[in-house]
Amino acid sequence: MITGRTRVTGIIGHPLSHSLSPQMHNAAFRSLDMDWVYVPFPVRPEKLGRAVRGLEALNVRGVNVTIPHKEAVIEYVDELHETASLIGAVNTLEFDDGTVRGYNTDADGCLRALEEVTSVRNSSVLILGAGGAARACAFRLALAGASGILILNRTPERAHSLAGDIGEKLGFDVSSGGYDLIPEAAVDADIIIDTTPVGMHPHTDDEALVTAELMHEGMVVYDLVYNPVRTVLLREAEKASAVPVSGLKMLVYQGAESFRIWTGRKAPVDVMEEAVLEGLWRKD
Ligand SMILES: NC(=O)c1ccc[n+]([C@@H]2O[C@H](COP(=O)([O-])OP(=O)(O)OC[C@H]3O[C@@H](n4cnc5c(N)ncnc54)[C@H](OP(=O)(O)O)[C@@H]3O)[C@@H](O)[C@H]2O)c1
Repeated sequence: MITGRTRVTGIIGHPLSHSLSPQMHNAAFRSLDMDWVYVPFPVRPEKLGRAVRGLEALNVRGVNVTIPHKEAVIEYVDELHETASLIGAVNTLEFDDGTVRGYNTDADGCLRALEEVTSVRNSSVLILGAGGAARACAFRLALAGASGILILNRTPERAHSLAGDIGEKLGFDVSSGGYDLIPEAAVDADIIIDTTPVGMHPHTDDEALVTAELMHEGMVVYDLVYNPVRTVLLREAEKASAVPVSGLKMLVYQGAESFRIWTGRKAPVDVMEEAVLEGLWRKD
């Protein structure tokens, strides 16, 4: 029940109809018996500045920021967290007594899902794709002490550009190229992260960018796609006795970190994961 004391959080983006974050966060608030609510706020690009100021004026505690605003919103942030500043994208705003703070919890979510099954420090990582998600993961893994990062993309120039940016900002030497390098790169990797939409619903029968013959036992194979949970890439990983990691984990852990920033409390990640699974199931 909404009361006079209810704290408000939410998400801004456009469109928002497919977002599972409202279900995930409201389930978390309910499970901890908190008088909080999470609301979807569809915001068109030309209204972004007014929306951020309005949310702050309305005493909203914080919001997630999604496509297409993750980069543009930085202009309206007073204090930018270090990782968000390096990546150049914000997915979480916190409103604190007139101050707007910006964070990138996608990066932390990406790392936490991996750290659950392996240690990133001294691992050699192959990243497929060079868009926004690749950027958040690549910067975070470089900061976490990966021994090497190779970024391959359909458009190699974007991979070169991301690698160059990480080199410039962190002094971390990242290699880059096109998908023609996948066969030789995959066999040497400890961790493969697919940040492309390949295999995403409804294209669940796409051919995986890396197939089982190129994987090895114990290698970690992480697909950021979470619909379906068991993607074509993760099915290949199972065939090779590799360790599959679903994008569902990143979704839940980025949400958990936003939850912690707003509430100061540890997020109930099992409840959040269950809510996302239920949301996915209802969609199908
Ligand atoms: N689990 C999570 O919490 C989470 C969070 C963020 C994103 N994601 C998922 O990650 C994926 C990428 O998101 P994004 O924001 O990074 O998107 P983006 O900025 O549009 O980047 C997409 C990347 O995938 C490549 N790509 C697109 N279609 C491809 C295809 N058919 N074959 C091979 N490569 C292809 C693109 O290559 P070009 O440069 O050549 O176009 C680009 O590098 C989406 O599926 C999204 O749902 C998941």
